[in-house]
Amino acid sequence: MDTPSDPWTIGRLLTWTVEYLGSHGAENPQLDAQVLLAHARGCQRIELYAAYTESASDELRTKFRELVKRRAAGTPVAYLVGHREFYSLDFEVTPDVLIPRPETESLVVALLDRAKLRKASASAGELPMEIVDVGTGSGILAVCAAKYLPETRVTAIDISPAALAVARRNAARHGVEARIQFLEADLLSAEPAEPRFDYIVSNPPYISSAEMTQLAPDVRDHEPHLALCAGEAGTEVIARLVEQAVPRVKPGGSLLVEISPMIAAAVEELVRKRPEFELGPTVKDLAGHARVVQALRRSS
Ligand SMILES: C[S@@+](CC[C@H](N)C(=O)[O-])C[C@H]1O[C@@H](n2cnc3c(N)ncnc32)[C@H](O)[C@@H]1O
Repeated sequence: MDTPSDPWTIGRLLTWTVEYLGSHGAENPQLDAQVLLAHARGCQRIELYAAYTESASDELRTKFRELVKRRAAGTPVAYLVGHREFYSLDFEVTPDVLIPRPETESLVVALLDRAKLRKASASAGELPMEIVDVGTGSGILAVCAAKYLPETRVTAIDISPAALAVARRNAARHGVEARIQFLEADLLSAEPAEPRFDYIVSNPPYISSAEMTQLAPDVRDHEPHLALCAGEAGTEVIARLVEQAVPRVKPGGSLLVEISPMIAAAVEELVRKRPEFELGPTVKDLAGHARVVQALRRSS
């Protein structure tokens, strides 16, 4: 990148970088190169096409080179640019929080579908609905709940104060901070064992210790282990959450929990074992993988 025979244009920078990142193991070198160059240039990714033949200033190249170096060394793009889109909203991300994953959108869809049905049949005294997001991380689930379900009160819990700080900023970014209560706690242990919540949603840590060693280096070496690893089996955090949820979900409400397909059967069994819950159909993500287990609180 330093001694070009031809002048460095936006297009040439992209071509060179796609090849460089590809040879350094990036899974999506083209997208990565475009996102990083747009970030360095302070423009939208789409604007790069119109600027293809434009020459790249020394300042831009220096800034871009630094980002590309860190990407080639494994730092995820979202941490380099400081944000990631989720459910059509833009969220700040830092290395203190998990990078939002598209499959988690299935959990939002499941929540919105259920909550809208419940709201339609609720009497005035049953509103606003109460929703808690356990293990909120960057706050994506809490913010989506507050934003897309206006008649709700939302609680966002995380054990990590650093993650909660990011979640708070994301709530402010989307204008819903007044409707979310943030709580530093171990799962639901700080909540009284009373039926307060219509919906408990959670994307908890669910990776087993063995799977942790198999993760792509981008994830394993850069994302918070507290957000990923649950223990030997991968179901440890979810097992505690299911138990804690039983007395805290209102009759007719639900616990909706994200899982990996590998632990789907084990988590379904955890729910089946509790007579207070009926096991709902497990929701598949867009790739067809089992993704959200639904524990429906029986009315009596
Ligand atoms: C997989 S991340 C999910 C973050 C976010 N909800 C998302 O979907 O992107 C799990 C989150 O749970 C938090 N966490 C881990 N153990 C916890 C516990 N015992 N109590 C509360 N939060 C916990 C982590 O700090 C992390 O932010």
